[in-house]
Amino acid sequence: MAKNESSKILITGGIGYLGSHTLIELLNQGREAIVLDNLSNSSVDVLARVEMISGIKPYFIEGDIRDECLLRQIFCENDITAVIHFAGLKSVGESVVNPLCYYDNNVSGTTILLKIMAEIGCKSLVFSSSATVYGEPNTLPIKEDFPRSAMNPYGASKLMIENILEDLTVADPMWKIAVLRYFNPVGAHSSGLLGESPTGVPNNLMPYISEVAIGKRDQLTVYGKDYPTKDGTGVRDFIHVVDLAKGHLSALDFLDKSAGKAAVNLGTGRGYSVLEVIHAFERVTGKEIRYTFSDRRPGDVASSFADPSLAKKLLNWQAERDLDEMCRDAWRWQQNLSGIDPT
Ligand code: NAD
Ligand code: WQD
Repeated sequence: MAKNESSKILITGGIGYLGSHTLIELLNQGREAIVLDNLSNSSVDVLARVEMISGIKPYFIEGDIRDECLLRQIFCENDITAVIHFAGLKSVGESVVNPLCYYDNNVSGTTILLKIMAEIGCKSLVFSSSATVYGEPNTLPIKEDFPRSAMNPYGASKLMIENILEDLTVADPMWKIAVLRYFNPVGAHSSGLLGESPTGVPNNLMPYISEVAIGKRDQLTVYGKDYPTKDGTGVRDFIHVVDLAKGHLSALDFLDKSAGKAAVNLGTGRGYSVLEVIHAFERVTGKEIRYTFSDRRPGDVASSFADPSLAKKLLNWQAERDLDEMCRDAWRWQQNLSGIDPT
């Protein structure tokens, strides 16, 4: 079969929350992308919205990263210069209930992808890791060389993949790998056309707050008010999804110029408490967020925020959007999702 000669970036999981925002940034930069997604946690509607924003119809292949034949075909038919690998499962609670599913999807899936990339000779990868690999940090802010540990099967799957990637770069110096450790991505595209749409009851703070604001949920449960933090509630480094998406383009540029593997935090460097997020959301949207306190959520750490200086140094990237913008964009998206014109 004839090979399509223009060079492309393969985005696995590119219909999902983070992948779709990164796809927009790639298309905005005039780069060509192929999206591979099995739609296990996303909907094809996203493609039409990406086209509305970018003016470009995305090249989409429905399929699974564990499908070796499909992967081989995609790489053989296209000149793929690098892969941004988002595909995977991401629910901590679900991973505790169904660990095999997580190890299969995340670890086996990544191993299959790497195997085919090696076979074809495409050895540039940007991998979606998570601040969860730092477990319970001893000090803050969190630097990339801090000890890593897993607190649940989801975190273990990310840690295993990071170790596999390390071994790979030792075994074959031709690999160029950027491991991006995301802190807490929130918010949505400023158009209101793209965002996070959790199925069922949201696990994460910002989507839950949005659903309380729109009237879908009565009140937020704040997990813990006795943490050793500024107001007793958990502190996190929330990062706007568009800033995070842009970090992937910076990582691709970095890989073009460098060799080996780098693990880099993507965060703002600033921690906000749960109460601070609630109050920012109320201020920005004019909506009251009713909440009640309950016990700490098992597995939660008190505080987590990044030292983002390595990202600035290596990738020439830093987050630009503040908490108000995260809340404003999350709210615009929530209103659109619920069929309310946000203008
Ligand atoms: P998401 O669920 O919105 O997107 C993941 C996409 O991958 C979905 O569209 C899903 O259908 C697809 N997918 C899953 N398994 C697949 C497979 N085997 N083959 C092909 N496609 C598959 O999640 P997200 O929030 O966009 O997260 C993307 C990545 O970033 C994940 O690897 C996640 O672990 C990681 N991450 C996310 C966060 C976060 O808070 N969102 C934080 C840290 C790390
Ligand atoms: C933030 C804070 C909660 C919901 C998770 C994953 C992590 C990463 C990002 C993928 C905490 C509190 C929350 C609620 C609350 N994902 N909270 N009431 O736990 O920092 O990170 O998403 O890699 O692996 O664990 O994010 O948004 O769930 O919680 O009080 O209804 O909000 O206790 O302090 P978390 P979160």
